[in-house]
Amino acid sequence: MSQAIRPVRKAVFPVAGLGTRLLPATKVLPKEMLTIVDRPLIQMAVEEAIEAGIEQFIFVINYGKEMLVQHFDNAPQLMKVLEARGKTDQIETIKAAALPEGSLQTVLQQEALGLGHAVWCAHHAVGNEPFAIILPDDTVLNSVGCLAQMVKSYNSHGGNVVAACEVAPEDTRRYGILDISGRQDQALSIKGLVEKPSPELAPSNMAIFGRYILQPEIFTYLARHEQGAGGEIQLTDAMAHLLADQDFYGFLFEGERLDCGNELGFVKAQIAFALNKPSLAPDIAEYMMTKLREYHEAGSKTAKSMKKVA
Ligand code: G1P
Repeated sequence: MSQAIRPVRKAVFPVAGLGTRLLPATKVLPKEMLTIVDRPLIQMAVEEAIEAGIEQFIFVINYGKEMLVQHFDNAPQLMKVLEARGKTDQIETIKAAALPEGSLQTVLQQEALGLGHAVWCAHHAVGNEPFAIILPDDTVLNSVGCLAQMVKSYNSHGGNVVAACEVAPEDTRRYGILDISGRQDQALSIKGLVEKPSPELAPSNMAIFGRYILQPEIFTYLARHEQGAGGEIQLTDAMAHLLADQDFYGFLFEGERLDCGNELGFVKAQIAFALNKPSLAPDIAEYMMTKLREYHEAGSKTAKSMKKVA
């Protein structure tokens, strides 16, 4: 089972999805361009990958998602204008969102056949080496990024690693779920994986969060294009096959997880990240206290008027 540990240098970003859960915001705008405070989700994901030591960035896109690539352009026209105006702070902001030449590549996923299919589309770009996957609408608020934490753990034991977190038992049907055989510190040993089981059939309530480190042998199973839950080609099913041949771990990461792919999670992320930004936090906190007071006052008024009616 044990293999030599090879470094993780490449990351795949499956960003061809339609983002239907966030319509109408995502009717024209790719959901990964939605912004949490000051950075689009795709930039947050790329910065997390850079922090984890990733050197090659592979975006799995479809038509209409070109903006995600443009965002990492070094924007020469804009830079000229900013330089002429002496806007040094803004120049630094733009530079921070650029990637070294040749480090970003795109592959096309022509049909929305599932996450497993999206990852399989990147097989030539990944080649025969371990790689990371980041789902940009899953964000983690922590001083050390989720992928950097996973890479550190991976470097000590190798194999395959998925980010893991507990979810409410009734939510198992929204996630890939782990069947756990043991735990050592933050690493869970896994004996099975199931995509979106109903609570009655779920082996646990430990879910896969949108970060993975996988060995290239995963492509052997993805190439089978087996349909799984929801009629889609599921990454979880391919991982369940790979589990028979290779070591697999769930990694209990540190930090608050925020699913920005739905309205509630997206709004929570705005609040959490704003309160984490020193230049904004005091004003936002004060504003929120005012709004909360107003909200509670309005609530008690409503309760009183309801009493009267009753
Ligand atoms: C995907 C994966 C699922 C994982 C989830 C994390 O599901 O298929 O295993 O738990 O991401 O966000 P999706 O959210 O694309 O339905």
